[in-house]
Amino acid sequence: MNILFSKTWQRSFGTFPLKDSVLEAAIAAAIETGYRAFDTAQMYENESTTGAALAASGLPRSALCVTTKVGVGNFTTGKFMPSVEASLAALQLDQVDMLLLHWPDPSGDNARSLDLLQEAQARGLTRHIGLSNYTAAMMREARARVSGPLVVNQVEFHPLLDQSRLLAAANETGIPLSSYCSVARGEVFRYPLFAEIGASYGKSAAQIVLRWILQKGLPITTMSTKPENIRANFEVMDFTLSSIDMARIDALNATGFRVVGRDKVPYAPEFD
Ligand SMILES: NC(=O)c1ccc[n+]([C@@H]2O[C@H](COP(=O)([O-])OP(=O)(O)OC[C@H]3O[C@@H](n4cnc5c(N)ncnc54)[C@H](OP(=O)(O)O)[C@@H]3O)[C@@H](O)[C@H]2O)c1
Repeated sequence: MNILFSKTWQRSFGTFPLKDSVLEAAIAAAIETGYRAFDTAQMYENESTTGAALAASGLPRSALCVTTKVGVGNFTTGKFMPSVEASLAALQLDQVDMLLLHWPDPSGDNARSLDLLQEAQARGLTRHIGLSNYTAAMMREARARVSGPLVVNQVEFHPLLDQSRLLAAANETGIPLSSYCSVARGEVFRYPLFAEIGASYGKSAAQIVLRWILQKGLPITTMSTKPENIRANFEVMDFTLSSIDMARIDALNATGFRVVGRDKVPYAPEFD
């Protein structure tokens, strides 16, 4: 089974943009809740706090699933491997579970970073490799370039954005999607539909949004600083949305709201 699809690892705890004591407290609350998968990145500048908080938990290494992402500034032959080694040192690990390319290469040519990603895996620096923010065309390109499995393309995914082209590419290439910005950084709460549907399941608006994503077949990465939200975001495995409610939520895809676009990340690709 793909690493992301076990019941526990389907729910990752995200660490952006948290740092220092706020991040330590959030990770401690997440571990207490039951999260065992954690998502960081070189660009978040919080790998060492993440590593210290995970080490402080006392959990065995085998119980954890740790993802980090190589930043675009390290996509050169000289910088890539040393940057991954620095990430491992910061995380206090010999190997991460998943190493992702955080973004497509801003140069427009992904061949070199894909080759370096494979090499990092061959050197044992990571168990699995994957992508993030890749377009459908880039997913096909990556599938053709990389010989082994690519276990994920981590992308923005929530009900206010139509990602049907990426879902089709995931089916075609066998590279699954996982979601970030699952509650669109709070934008979803402007839509009364989620609380309305939630009332009939005894669940909150956020839980309805997250359940919709899971039922679309994606693992979720959520982040919160509040213990009650951290818990709520984990308690999404004990109910199933009806096909009618799934379709009511699908209708919001036409909203076209995107959190992470070129205004925030100038080198973001032309998204599907
Ligand atoms: N690969 C990439 O390029 C990329 C990009 C962005 C994010 N990510 C990853 O994905 C993770 C999650 O994405 P994100 O943090 O950007 O966006 P998000 O999960 O959509 O939004 C996080 C915000 O929503 C609030 N929130 C969370 N759960 C809630 C709940 N149950 N009820 C009410 N409010 C809630 C949190 O506030 P409170 O603290 O007040 O609860 C927080 O401000 C990040 O931490 C990061 O690890 C990856």
